[in-house]
Amino acid sequence: MIENDTIISVENLKTYFYTNERCNKAVNGVSFKIRKGRTLCLVGESGCGKTVTATSIMRLLPRLSRIEEGEITYYKKDEEIRIDQLEKNGKKMRSLRGEDIAMIFQDPMTALNPVYTVGYQIMENLIYHTALSKQERKKKAIKLLDNMGIPLPEQRVDEYIHQYSGGMRQRAMISMAMACNPKVLIADEPTTALDVTIQAQIFDLMNDLKVDYDTAIMMITHDMGVVAELADDVAVMYMGNIVESGTVEDVLKTPAHPYTKALLQSIPVLGKGKKQNLEPIRGTTPDPYNRPEGCQFHPRCDYMTEKCYQDPERTKVKGEHFVNCWHYEKVLEDE
Ligand SMILES: Nc1ncnc2c1ncn2[C@@H]1O[C@H](COP(=O)(O)OP(=O)(O)O)[C@@H](O)[C@H]1O
Ligand SMILES: [Mg+2]
Repeated sequence: MIENDTIISVENLKTYFYTNERCNKAVNGVSFKIRKGRTLCLVGESGCGKTVTATSIMRLLPRLSRIEEGEITYYKKDEEIRIDQLEKNGKKMRSLRGEDIAMIFQDPMTALNPVYTVGYQIMENLIYHTALSKQERKKKAIKLLDNMGIPLPEQRVDEYIHQYSGGMRQRAMISMAMACNPKVLIADEPTTALDVTIQAQIFDLMNDLKVDYDTAIMMITHDMGVVAELADDVAVMYMGNIVESGTVEDVLKTPAHPYTKALLQSIPVLGKGKKQNLEPIRGTTPDPYNRPEGCQFHPRCDYMTEKCYQDPERTKVKGEHFVNCWHYEKVLEDE
């Protein structure tokens, strides 16, 4: 793979929360790359740090949290922008949000304002980031809604978000995110609340964006089925760390981390029929304030040994495939 197709690189990111004099190391040394025209799926169970990773990149972290360490670099044409060093509400960061990097949230109601029409909000984005005239902006807003498969866009553009159904709201939010043709789209579990047909339609739309505009996508999900469907690259996250990463073929066909394997065993595979053994992962995720020593997964892991009390190093399996597990060779043998 060529190195310069990277659009965002995250190096050793640590983002911590400070509440009641306790520290939650929500994201604890995460590294990955988002590549042009590709979809990276960040996958892991609820609470593992996916949203905090995304909001670190957007510099939209909640109160009481901060980037403690690490580098977030955005490669804009010939410029390298260190996002982690920007002022979070400064001019540069505000222009990056929307124009270069857009995010769609799990709940569209957090991104869309109920007191303005959907069209107004899309057009407002266009004021900040383009030189279009008022008429042109309206036309563009209608076109964006139309592109996202919203019926009667000329009428819908003047409606409020509460007049939209769940799937339509998500599409409206994607329209808003896509208003300025961002180079990177970060989608945080955008279809979790929607039924599967709408989910499939939204995934198709996102795939079209990737192909038509070479948009790099970071898709956040807890669902390995979504990964199988959408990903080019995968990063598996557990308790604030990335435990395995690689191309979708590498990670899904030859998972090298026991956690990845367990995640894959907990979803049905098409074509395998009813004979599948769907096994939930035993145990529960640890208390973030009372973390295990070393590998965070060892209390739930069948491969656990004394060695696992030490932090596992990031090890190359093959090519772009990496894993953080002392026993990955054994895991691979057990396929
Ligand atoms: N606003 C917040 N205040 C305090 N802790 C938070 C907040 N948001 C997230 N966290 C903590 O950070 C960790 C990672 O959360 P998050 O990134 O939201 O997980 P995910 O998106 O993978 O479900 C969790 O331990 C969670 O409790
Ligand atoms: Mg989340």
